[in-house]
Amino acid sequence: MVTLLGGHTVGMAHCDNVNTDTRSLGFSVRLTKTCASGPDATVALDQKTPEKVDNEFYRQISFGKGVLKVDQDLPFDGLTSGAVSEYRNDLEVFRADFAKAMIKLGTVGVLVDGEGEIRNQCWAFNN
Ligand code: HEM
Repeated sequence: MVTLLGGHTVGMAHCDNVNTDTRSLGFSVRLTKTCASGPDATVALDQKTPEKVDNEFYRQISFGKGVLKVDQDLPFDGLTSGAVSEYRNDLEVFRADFAKAMIKLGTVGVLVDGEGEIRNQCWAFNN
């Protein structure tokens, strides 16, 4: 999961998914200001290179600049901190592991042709 969450090296989050209570006071202030305009405002998931697939995401979350709760906790939990520092320090290891994890994710057996449903919101059944 630590590897797959490296997917947050690109893209944006809407403010209703953002946790402004981060480990960096300055960043919390910035997030609060950005999100003051309402839940439709967006924030980059990777503070430095949000349009590039690299390991900067892991550096930023280690500085307390994670945007989602799920990302914010990764560098500070004993179960996940080791992998975060490995990826932060070694782009090539992250690249290789991320590619492997994405290929593995592709084999989980997605339900197609009426076997399942594509959710309109990921946290709830459509009906
Ligand atoms: C525990 C697992 C995960 C959680 C809880 C999670 C949660 C989220 C949330 C809340 C957002 C923001 C959505 C919004 O506000 O519009 C987001 C965005 C995103 N996530 Fe995840 N995510 C997870 C795993 C993944 C994985 C495995 C990948 C890819 C490998 C991924 C790739 C992305 C991308 C690319 C975006 C940005 C989408 C955009 O810019 O429109 N996420 N995720």
